[in-house]
Amino acid sequence: MIRIAIDGPSGSGKSTLAKAVARELGIIYVDTGALYRTVGYYVYSNGIDPQCEDAIAKVLPEINIELKYEGETQRVILNGEDLGDKIRMPEMSMYASAVSSKPVVRAFLLEMQKSLARAHSVVMDGRDIGTVIIPDADLKIFLTASNETRAMRRTLELQEKGVDAKYEDVLADMIERDKNDKNRNIAPAVPADDAIIFDNSVMTVEESVKEIVRLLNERK
Ligand code: DC
Repeated sequence: MIRIAIDGPSGSGKSTLAKAVARELGIIYVDTGALYRTVGYYVYSNGIDPQCEDAIAKVLPEINIELKYEGETQRVILNGEDLGDKIRMPEMSMYASAVSSKPVVRAFLLEMQKSLARAHSVVMDGRDIGTVIIPDADLKIFLTASNETRAMRRTLELQEKGVDAKYEDVLADMIERDKNDKNRNIAPAVPADDAIIFDNSVMTVEESVKEIVRLLNERK
């Protein structure tokens, strides 16, 4: 079994890198942000205030999330519906960030993530993978990149999906979301004590993958 935790703020390149590492090692890639986005989507779709933990707690039993893997693509199925890119919209990012600060939501998604990491060799990306979900991971990476690099990557990603995203708006949203994620009381998005801080602002994906595989072999 190989278990790699990749944490870091939005736009740090986690998903691109985690996917590439998973491909290189022939194991699955789990995007845990998609789970918080899915809860955010449900809360949004039902007109619930994402800051109201009681209201969210009431609807959690109505939510059934399945993850399906096709090659390296992870699909999220919410109550039988494949959500596709609906959870990637900027509004869903804010809802995901808001609901992820609620202990009831984190408890709801905890076992699903832990059991995936128990059952499979995985590269898992998120905010609390190294601290909470896989505290005994073979390798923990905390990925960073400058705010400007991250915002530019996110803007291009959204534009490729056909969203009319503006760099300044994406940067402002990202800074706000980072602040929420880092300063929340539960599972804050901070590096584990034994995580390797990895700045990939000026590295290609190929260089980063090589370095991660080297670090893994060093530790294993
Ligand atoms: O990685 P992402 O941008 O898709 O994540 C969406 C939100 O979910 C992000 O603002 C923080 C939250 N999140 C979290 O709290 N814990 C995780 N393991 C993954 C994401």
